[in-house]
Amino acid sequence: MDTKILKPDDESLAEAKRIIEGGGLVAFPTETVYGLGANAFNEDAVKSIYLVKGRPQDNPLIVHVHKGYDITRIVCDIPDYALKLAEKFQPGPLTIVLKSKGTVSPVVSCGLDTIGIRVPSHEGAQRFLKAVDLPIAAPSANVSKHVSPVTAQHVYADLNGKIPLILDGGKCSGGIESTVLDCTGEIPCILRSGLITREMIAEVAGDCGVFVPKAGEKVRSPGMKYKHYSPNCRTMLFTYEERAKAVEEYIAQSSAGVKACLMCENSVAKEFDVKDVLLLGENGEQFAANLYDKLREGERCYELIIAVAPNERGGVMAGVMNRLTKACGG
Ligand code: TXA
Ligand code: MG
Repeated sequence: MDTKILKPDDESLAEAKRIIEGGGLVAFPTETVYGLGANAFNEDAVKSIYLVKGRPQDNPLIVHVHKGYDITRIVCDIPDYALKLAEKFQPGPLTIVLKSKGTVSPVVSCGLDTIGIRVPSHEGAQRFLKAVDLPIAAPSANVSKHVSPVTAQHVYADLNGKIPLILDGGKCSGGIESTVLDCTGEIPCILRSGLITREMIAEVAGDCGVFVPKAGEKVRSPGMKYKHYSPNCRTMLFTYEERAKAVEEYIAQSSAGVKACLMCENSVAKEFDVKDVLLLGENGEQFAANLYDKLREGERCYELIIAVAPNERGGVMAGVMNRLTKACGG
């Protein structure tokens, strides 16, 4: 199969609509990462997402809709606080998990009785979702466990020959996946942290929990139990406090002939004079925007990425740390 990369325009969107209506897959840009979309009402189309990605069968997919879409066609029992959060943060990088009405294929949420709803703000995503006017089930458009794609070229590198069309909306500005928020309880509860932070949610909803799986407890967002976001090269992760040790490691590895690099915030690169460096920026938003691009650059150019965790904690850095730990830790 030939994989076309096209800018979203009337012609490519008409083609995207034909593919989706025919049960096929289309990769599309969002403000977080690229998605790999299928008609959420078409069970075979949804199943093919799992095949193409090599995704475990118990990791549910988020359903994407355009701004004007009436979500009561697919979910029910929406609490007041969820309406407020949707009003404030959608369109945007917030996925709201609600009770399923049962109209969407159960394959989408792997048998759970809930659905994650996302309204991406990226103009290309909105145009695509409007053109098809269907709820679109979509995970990130990477091979399962690999680094999420933030450019059309990243999608192509992973899925060339496996899907017919990638809509190219440029580089994603957000850079890490949406915050996944369980809205089926008394108060909202973060299942996956992201650009919409706990502080931002609590301000609107009055309160916000964070789900921390305890040993032996059933995970509520099955995606959390898998290795994720990993580059195809060796990695090491040091805390900010251990940054001098990270630099020592870089020097030792380089002298031993290993093509190594340091991935860190700008100030750390300035503090130590390191030649091979992947700069993540100066604050949470910049870290998020750069992380996946730098991990992919790292695996292309080096054998070993030595990452230094950010100095700052909380806010957007909570989501960044979650991804960095899964990509480079362990
Ligand atoms: O920003 C994003 O969210 C991107 C773009 C493409 O929208 N999508 C994305 O999808 O990151 P994916 O499949 O890579 O991650 C979806 C996450 C998984 O951790 C999954 O377990 C969780 O959302 N999830 C989906 N539906 C759920 C549900 N009904 N209940 C609990 N967790 C759910
Ligand atoms: Mg993913």
